[in-house]
Amino acid sequence: MIKRAIDIALAAGEILNEKLSSGVTVEHKGRIDLVTDADRAAEEFIVQQLERLFPRHGVLGEEGTQVEGSSDYLWVIDPVDGTTNFAHGFPYFAVSLGLLRGDDVVLGVVYNPQTKECFAAEKGSGALLNGRKISVSAQSTLEQSLLATGFPYNIDTAEENNLASFARANLITQGVRSLGAASLDLCQVAAGRLDAFWERSLEPWDIAAGSIIVREAGGKVTSCQGQTFRTFGREICASNGLIHEGLVRLLSEVDR
Ligand code: IPD
Ligand code: CA
Ligand code: CA
Repeated sequence: MIKRAIDIALAAGEILNEKLSSGVTVEHKGRIDLVTDADRAAEEFIVQQLERLFPRHGVLGEEGTQVEGSSDYLWVIDPVDGTTNFAHGFPYFAVSLGLLRGDDVVLGVVYNPQTKECFAAEKGSGALLNGRKISVSAQSTLEQSLLATGFPYNIDTAEENNLASFARANLITQGVRSLGAASLDLCQVAAGRLDAFWERSLEPWDIAAGSIIVREAGGKVTSCQGQTFRTFGREICASNGLIHEGLVRLLSEVDR
């Protein structure tokens, strides 16, 4: 299944690259929550392929797909994670495909078609970047760590806007990046380029694939309170494992 998922992600990525060079139509779902014709075209393509290859599997997609399957497999897909970046031509966005069996994520593929980096993992088989094994960093102190986070689209009205956590973490680490594509941020943790990532107010398609890629790269994935990670739990704290406790403590000390 992983080989097929990778092929689908690569082909969907080509659709995104083509759309980017031929011109993208942007619509607003909210003040800063965008969607483009490319998001819809890529989702349509991915769903068609999944239905053809895995007719018994369910599919849940950000742009409205809800296919009920007749097995316990569910694909959770984001055709463009990082749509704001995509709409601006900032080359940090990805096709994200996660596969759940029951509550368990068993496979994940995250592909950035601009950098041609394809991250993939299958439960129990390790994590790969373009076919080569990757692993999380060995950084053991928060003070020496580089982190990333993200903010909700309703940052202007939400009480839990993550700004207090962002400020606090910036003061005691080497920096906190906000790059705009949660699935790829998780892959940077898996590849050891970032030491941790956390975000609240996320959707399952933002984190399903990335969560297994971090785990299979040797990292730790929980809620922001350090509890069991749930794909539909709306938040994630992912790290190399070594700084996890410190980061969870930091997040619990501040008023979001
Ligand atoms: C968004 C990105 C972003 C995160 C948002 C997500 P989208 O997904 O992952 O990094 O901060 O919470 O909604 O809308 O670009 O698919
Ligand atoms: Ca997303
Ligand atoms: Ca999206």
